[in-house]
Amino acid sequence: MDEIAKYNLARWKALVEADALFTRPNLNLTVDSARQAIDFDGKLGEVAEKDVLCLAGGGGQQSAAFALLGANVTVFDLSEEQLKRDAEAAEHYNVDIKIVQGDMRDLSHFGEASFDIVNHAYSINFVPDAVLVFRQVARVLRNGGIYHVNFTNPFIMGMEQKDWNGEGYILKEPYVNGAKISYDDQDWVYSREEYKPVLNPIEYRHALSTVLNGLFENGFVIFHVSDNCDMYPNENAEPGTWDHFVAFAPPWLSIWGSYRPDFKIE
Ligand SMILES: C[S@@+](CC[C@H](N)C(=O)[O-])C[C@H]1O[C@@H](n2cnc3c(N)ncnc32)[C@H](O)[C@@H]1O
Repeated sequence: MDEIAKYNLARWKALVEADALFTRPNLNLTVDSARQAIDFDGKLGEVAEKDVLCLAGGGGQQSAAFALLGANVTVFDLSEEQLKRDAEAAEHYNVDIKIVQGDMRDLSHFGEASFDIVNHAYSINFVPDAVLVFRQVARVLRNGGIYHVNFTNPFIMGMEQKDWNGEGYILKEPYVNGAKISYDDQDWVYSREEYKPVLNPIEYRHALSTVLNGLFENGFVIFHVSDNCDMYPNENAEPGTWDHFVAFAPPWLSIWGSYRPDFKIE
């Protein structure tokens, strides 16, 4: 295990101990809210009976939502503590979820063409080489399968809501592909009053061209892009608040790709 994985293991263990937002299993799902949780953009189609991989998706949110909708779900994550949350959710809903621990940079545990859908919740910025992961995903997806990946908006990465200077949000970091960037967790990630401080995230910028070309070169056809990942931007909110910040600087992008290795532009 390299230093990057060790750091993330320690951080996610601490985040689970701090009951951080992304570590709380979703135990109040209905069929409608399950669909909303995994298909905010309305692009997924039928998932019942489909083989789904929730990639680096531990925490008991997406896995539970897919399982409630009748999919055959495997959740794969680095963190044992996060995966325990998926087990809790599976027990709560009395559904079967396969749980596999590992690093998203190595999906050799799975055979070729094992899945119809790979749902990649926010995590690819925790590793420096996104294209390496795309290659792994391409191998495990069936022809025509769907890959939904979320990542940090590379153009504003490193900018925080506290960077409001009275006129705008300051862009502090140069646009460098692969750059290592650390910042404070948002206030809403976990309670500073109740829990001791958690190690800050260490993330890597994936330039837009790297992400798009990496997908194209690994056989993906993109059919939808979103820059409003379930947020509530409000340009009239108090400057320096989260809702105001996201109205100026959308923090995340999401891409929907279909694995079509035979597709060629003549
Ligand atoms: C923000 S959570 C995403 C999933 C969560 N269900 C959610 O809705 O936010 C990020 C996940 O990435 C996992 N992770 C970090 N680095 C990883 C790696 N190299 N391989 C696999 N999982 C990793 C963490 O353990 C964590 O569960």
